[in-house]
Amino acid sequence: MLEIKNLTVEVGDRRVLKDISLSVMSGSTSVLFGPNGSGKSTLLSTIMGLGNYKVISGQILLDGKDITDMPIHERAQLGIGLMSQRPPNLVGVQLRTMLQITGHGKVDPSTLAGTLGMDRFLSRDVNVGFSGGEIKRSELLQLAAQNPCMYLLDEPESGVDLESIERVGKMIHDLITGGITCAGRREREGKSALVITHTGQILDYIEADRGYVLCNGTISCAGNPRELLREIRAKGYEECVKCRLVRVN
Ligand SMILES: Nc1ncnc2c1ncn2[C@@H]1O[C@H](COP(=O)(O)OP(=O)(O)OP(=O)(O)O)[C@@H](O)[C@H]1O
Ligand SMILES: [Mg+2]
Repeated sequence: MLEIKNLTVEVGDRRVLKDISLSVMSGSTSVLFGPNGSGKSTLLSTIMGLGNYKVISGQILLDGKDITDMPIHERAQLGIGLMSQRPPNLVGVQLRTMLQITGHGKVDPSTLAGTLGMDRFLSRDVNVGFSGGEIKRSELLQLAAQNPCMYLLDEPESGVDLESIERVGKMIHDLITGGITCAGRREREGKSALVITHTGQILDYIEADRGYVLCNGTISCAGNPRELLREIRAKGYEECVKCRLVRVN
């Protein structure tokens, strides 16, 4: 179970997240909505432990363990995996090598890449010259090789064409519901995911039981993800903030 308790985070000289609290139960998926610049990617990056994100107060707990100050590699070993919105180009690192490293040599890169039609990218440097949709698929492949327990997916469907979106969606579904034991967690506890989406397309492929709306760095609303999406589409985020259907906590 992932628990975020009263988390306040600064990036540069800006307070981007303010007193955030949310939880994702083991074996379940939560969705995070919010307008551009509201702090969604900041939240996922802070959970993963990327640099430049300064936790001012609050806690991040994974299965009851406080990981707030833990280095990134230890979080990965505990089973947290991040699909970035804008991952860096890795010049000199072929995708094949990356999949071998993240999969600890237990994954066949060709077979894995075949599932997302990425075979011909294996000998290319990670993300270098990749299109927007290709970057998303490459990120997902790396995550599939890592096999985490807690998936942090930052707009997995964004920029992905209609044909590939089904493959990406089904792969995410299979990864999250798959029976493969993941690093650091007992199988019976199941895998979890926190997924950022603007369009909600990913909801056609995964079972999400809770949605959160992040506006201006605070959680303004929580509830059924499909209902939240319907409200946001109908009334926009401004109404969503006023409405505050269900208060978190
Ligand atoms: N180094 C930095 N210095 C100052 N502000 C920053 C820095 N990094 C990020 N921010 C700001 O933090 C805010 C939140 O950014 P974030 O990327 O988390 O938004 P987001 O909700 O993911 O938006 P989007 O939907 O566009 O991806 C933005 O206003 C961004 O400009
Ligand atoms: Mg973002």
